[in-house]
Amino acid sequence: MAVIIAPGRSLDRVGDGETHGLGYERVDGDPNVAVLLATMDATAGWEATRRLRVWERDQLRLDGGKRLLDVGCGLGDAALALAEDLGADGEVVGVDASAAMVDVARERAGAARCHVRFAVGDALALDEPDDRFDVVRSERTLQWLTDPQAAVHEMARTLSLGGRISLIDSDWSTFTLDVGDDELAGRVREAMRTERRRPSDVGCRLPELVRAAGFEVLAATSATQTWSGWDQDRSPAPDGCFSMSSLADDLVDVGQLPPADRERFVSTIHQAARDGRFSMALTMFAVTGG
Ligand SMILES: C[S@@+](CC[C@H](N)C(=O)[O-])C[C@H]1O[C@@H](n2cnc3c(N)ncnc32)[C@H](O)[C@@H]1O
Repeated sequence: MAVIIAPGRSLDRVGDGETHGLGYERVDGDPNVAVLLATMDATAGWEATRRLRVWERDQLRLDGGKRLLDVGCGLGDAALALAEDLGADGEVVGVDASAAMVDVARERAGAARCHVRFAVGDALALDEPDDRFDVVRSERTLQWLTDPQAAVHEMARTLSLGGRISLIDSDWSTFTLDVGDDELAGRVREAMRTERRRPSDVGCRLPELVRAAGFEVLAATSATQTWSGWDQDRSPAPDGCFSMSSLADDLVDVGQLPPADRERFVSTIHQAARDGRFSMALTMFAVTGG
């Protein structure tokens, strides 16, 4: 399967078995870097992602000359969409830990009307001046950081007086997988609550992070991404998601699944998908503060 990630550039998805442990802490150097980049395009197409980005744009109502910083900007598509509201004298800066992500973002920035700069950097130590930006945003990045609150404080440092902060993130403790097997669904739900020992439930904590950084919450919303089926002939994993073998490996790692049950676990899910009994859901949250 080829996934277009930039004009004139396409990436081949690697096989189902190679996606174990996919994560966005260290994209560069990951043997699956191509999958990580392609997955960003797939998740940008999720209905929930699109709805939250439209909501954010409506809340921010950016206009000419404003300066926007996107922390953990990934492929840059959300920042570039917001750039359309800034006029020719606006400025967009995107920072991401991954040079591979930043390279694609730079390629995509060609058509932007305002000044755009994408740079490699760390959300926990931004190489940007104090009081510089009118809006600082971060989407689906806090969940990959060791200290999300420290990152929100760092974002606040770069905001000018009266500036606004905008956060979007998933809460993986809301993840459900329904394949007509309650015991299997329970294991997945339990494992997701402590998923990979990272702050994967940060989505529901966004208002708390915003308040702790000295802002009032201006607006908040959520959207649930649902997968009501999965065609295994078209894709080795549900759209924009990890493979079921990778999920099984993670469950084995956290002691939720005996290694001997791994194959049965994966085949139960695959069979349910073939029989039209497969569904998944994940809730994402968004908040603006000022
Ligand atoms: C799931 S992606 C989200 C990308 C983009 N915000 C989006 O919503 O499409 C998470 C991004 O966070 C970046 N990231 C992870 N740790 C980071 C850090 N410490 N500083 C900056 N970016 C980081 C990754 O390189 C990756 O691009």
